[in-house]
Amino acid sequence: MASALNGGGNGGGGGLTKMSLLRVQYYCVLGAVAGAVILATVRYMPASGGGEGAALSTTSAVSTTTAPKSAAPAAGHRKSKGMPVVVPETKEKKGKAPEKVVVFNFGDSNSDTGGVAAIMGIRIASPEGRAFFHHPTGRLSDGRVVLDFICETLNTHHLSPYMKPLGSDYTNGVNFAIAGSTATPGDTPFSLDVQIDQFIFFQDRCNDSTERGETFPIEMRDFGNALYTMDIGQNDVTGILYLPYDKVLEKLPHFVAEIRKAIEILHKNGARKFWIHGTGALGCLPQKLAMHGKDADLSLDEHGCIIKFNNAAKKFNELLSEACDDLRLNLKKSTIIFVDMFAIKYDLVANHTKYGIEKPLMTCCGHGGPPYNYDPKRSCMGTDMDLCKPSEKFISWDGVHFTDAANSMVATMAISGEYSIPRMKLTSLVKPAKAKDS
Ligand SMILES: *[C@@H]1O[C@H](CO)[C@@H](O)[C@H](O)[C@H]1NC(C)=O
Ligand SMILES: *[C@@H]1O[C@H](CO)[C@@H](O)[C@H](O)[C@H]1NC(C)=O
Repeated sequence: MASALNGGGNGGGGGLTKMSLLRVQYYCVLGAVAGAVILATVRYMPASGGGEGAALSTTSAVSTTTAPKSAAPAAGHRKSKGMPVVVPETKEKKGKAPEKVVVFNFGDSNSDTGGVAAIMGIRIASPEGRAFFHHPTGRLSDGRVVLDFICETLNTHHLSPYMKPLGSDYTNGVNFAIAGSTATPGDTPFSLDVQIDQFIFFQDRCNDSTERGETFPIEMRDFGNALYTMDIGQNDVTGILYLPYDKVLEKLPHFVAEIRKAIEILHKNGARKFWIHGTGALGCLPQKLAMHGKDADLSLDEHGCIIKFNNAAKKFNELLSEACDDLRLNLKKSTIIFVDMFAIKYDLVANHTKYGIEKPLMTCCGHGGPPYNYDPKRSCMGTDMDLCKPSEKFISWDGVHFTDAANSMVATMAISGEYSIPRMKLTSLVKPAKAKDS
């Protein structure tokens, strides 16, 4: 099975450690079980969702073959108007020290700050990280992910991955996100349910330490004040896009149910503040466009994105937003913010010139040049990639993941509250201490 990995087209030779991994999002979706397979697939599997995937791979890549059947009927369009919810505009009361900022994050590569690299022992090579950290950090980007900007906005340092043994600092929370992860249990080794179990394990150990008078990174009371952020579902949705649209719709509620369950479990364990990201404009990703854009039965919208894929993403978000509405009524004393990532990421494409982006559907680090600069066999790997200039603003870093510049813009919009339900600024979730009942 491990040989399947090579199918990914390691064009440049070189040892395993040289490989940069970009496909992470996908293989895990393939349901790898054995560690070796997972490891290997993480490195080499071609993107799922692509017909190519099956051809290149001999693994039991169940859901990788794409057989897009029909153009999507327009799904429920729903702009994040933001419900007319009253925003408790909390002004920082002068004189009061703000409470300690603690963030627990759950998700996939959109918010992985180095977890997958640490766990799998993968050396994610340069040019990853070139724009901000100036060296690879395990993030799948040339710089920061949205979560990093969230931490910066809250004046706290970037979150350390839960399973990163060296250099981690958990005094401001933990990042449980692992690239490739799904909301669906069992589809990936670190699916959301596992990440939640890891959180509970972490919380229990802090509690044990408290009882024993030992040192521990986070005070028990900080678990209740902490912000719980989540960005997951992209791999679940991506994994079924090859299905006919009605079948896609049938599966979406299952993904949302898992996220809902995770929020409920966290709430039962004391979590009160949730910041939940919907999924992005999947039909605008260069990877999707390069692999499916020419399928006759997949039509493109006026901005060049695949309508069916975007409709699936929008539908997923609609369901997730509804689940959040429902949880808001049922989970007492909690604040649950749903952020419409589709609206944000689609706006970036549709209004790209406004954001200083010239080629919204082209990958910065890829192969093959225009229109998408994306080659599923090589992606952002090897030595001869077609790499954009550092001065050029691109949305897509590697065909799937965003650049530091784009993540910065996405984060600014998300944090503003303009795209969330209820409309609430991120910073208003972190109130001065002792303000909980006012
Ligand atoms: C911490 O441990 C104590 C004693 O074992 C237990 O009663 C309490 O419920 C625990 N708290 C949490 C948040 O797990
Ligand atoms: C593009 O920008 C305009 C003006 O700000 C806005 O009305 C429109 O909704 C944006 N388009 C998308 C797809 O977000």
